[in-house]
Parts: sequence; C-alpha cells; structure tokens
Amino acid sequence: MTATTSKRRVRTAVFPVAGLGTRFLPATKTVPKEMLPIVDRPLIQYAVDEAIAAGCDTLVFVTNRYKHAVADYFDKAYELEQKLEKAGKQEQLALIRNVLPEGVRAVFVTQAEALGLGHAVLCAKPVVGDAPFAVLLPDDLIWSRGDGALTQMVEHAHATGCSVVAVQDVPREQTGSYGIVATDTFDGQSGRIRQIVEKPQPAMAPSNLAVVGRYVLSPAIFSLLETTPKGTGGEIQLTDAIAALLASERVDAFRFRGTRFDCGTHLGLIEATIRYALDNERLSDAARGLMRNALNEMGVKEN
Ligand code: UTP
Repeated sequence: MTATTSKRRVRTAVFPVAGLGTRFLPATKTVPKEMLPIVDRPLIQYAVDEAIAAGCDTLVFVTNRYKHAVADYFDKAYELEQKLEKAGKQEQLALIRNVLPEGVRAVFVTQAEALGLGHAVLCAKPVVGDAPFAVLLPDDLIWSRGDGALTQMVEHAHATGCSVVAVQDVPREQTGSYGIVATDTFDGQSGRIRQIVEKPQPAMAPSNLAVVGRYVLSPAIFSLLETTPKGTGGEIQLTDAIAALLASERVDAFRFRGTRFDCGTHLGLIEATIRYALDNERLSDAARGLMRNALNEMGVKEN
C-alpha cells in the first residue's frame, strides 16, 4: 500500500466555483450559483465554514471572469463596516467580519474556460503545491449535528495517510448522475476504492455508492490531471484522474455522518432551505407555521 497524504496536515481547501450553473438560469445569469442563499448566508459560506472547522487556513477559489461576486463577498467591506459601527449594530458587524476569520487567507485563481471539474482543480496547483489538500463543491451542502463532513474526512486521512472521497448511498436509478465507486471491503464507514466511474448507467454501475462533493487528495492528483483526456460530457473529469490515482496510491471511500443536499438542483435548494429554517432557533416555529399554511391553502385550491 502506498499512502500518500503522508499524514501531513490538510491546510488548503479548494473551492471550484467556475461552473456555468446552467440549471439555475436565469438567476445565475448574474448571481453565481454559490452565492444563492440558504436562509441568511450564501452556499459558499457554509462550505468555507466547514473547511475552516476542519483546520484549513488557505482557501483557494477557482473562479471565472464573471464571478466577481464571490471575490467581492470575501473582500473587506469598509464603507458598510463603518456604517454599521456608527449605527452601533455590533451583531451585524460581527457577521460580516466573520465571513473570513483572522488567520485565514483567500486566494483567487481563474479558470479561463469551463473545461470541467478536474481542470478547475488543476488550476489550483500553483497554490496547493506538494501537500495534501481538500476539495469542496459548495453546491453539495452537508448538514450535520456534530463534526462537519470534511472534519471527519480529514481525521480519516490523518489516521490512514490516504486520499479520501466522500460517498453516500443513492438509489440505483440515479447512478447516471454521479461518480460511482466499488470498494475492496467496506466496514460500513470506509473502504479502499477499487474502481471509480463517472456517471454510469444503472446496469453498468459497480455499486450504488456515489461520490459527493468533498475530497481529501494527495498532490499526486495534479500530474494525473495534466494528462487526463476529456471524458464524460467533453469535460476533464476529476473522477478519471482519481481512477488513475488508484493504480499507485490508496484512496478510501468515506461515508460521512450528515445529510447532503444537492443545491445544484431546484429541489435540493428548496429542501436545504426548509431544513436550515427548521434548524434555526429564531425561525423554526414561524417556518413550521408558514409551511402548514402553505400546504393547507394549496390543498384547498387543489380540491
Ligand atoms: P456542475 O456539474 O454542478 O456544473 O459542477 P455547473 O456548471 O456548476 O452547474 P450546471 O450543471 O450547469 O447547472 C460541479 C462543480 O464543479 C465546478 C462548479 O462550479 C461546481 O462547483 N466546475 C465545473 C468548475 O469550477 N469548472 C468547470 O469547468 C466545471
């Protein structure tokens, strides 16, 4: 076994946010998908908080030239801060200051063309260098009561020294929407990946363990990405480079504790909004009431 995250601390998190977000047009014509809010904060903030909680202090955002909003969001808002300070709005001031806590640095790199997730990760190579790193796709929002999904994965990576890919069970008819893994043995939580394929049709899928948007990767992935040809959808797929990595290094599938919402889809975004509203002390009771009313009213109209 070659273990290659070599038990080094994972300090860098990469956020590939250069996709076109076509499923949310027309909203994403001007608002990047990652800036869509769940209750009071954009999707990207949830992913950033999860990475910081897992110990990352360098955040690399892979953006494109249309996504100024992401960089603006993490920039200091001097005028707004001054206004809030003058108005004595300390709570709101803390909220905008904590978007990026002290000691955490944000680096922006550009993906000139949307050539795929694998290509977006490769764009982060000059910043990541020769160390293990995390990748988080902000439209996969993971709700958990205890440790965040990435914290759990980083612990597994530190304990084993291998790369780690987050997985969850999906209904077999949905395998065509995911990367699907087969493992040697699976102890209920993790197992060494033997095979990984991008978006297989149900009949061809080696299992129903689907990859979701959290990875801890060995830097060896970069040289593999450099030679990965275009795959499914004409894009350079991260899955294909991970498949190549399996030949030389151990990569584990990891079933995290938590609930994942696919906020790249309309229903996923709605479901996440409901869950986070119900989980919010200040909003929960009122949100329940609103839902009951909506169901009653719609029910009446439908009859
Ligand atoms: P998606 O498959 O969700 O694509 O990308 P998308 O463009 O964001 O959205 P749709 O399908 O058109 O609605 C998965 C992740 O990979 C990033 C996206 O930003 C998202 O976080 N990505 C994808 C890139 O950064 N660059 C790419 O070339 C492709």
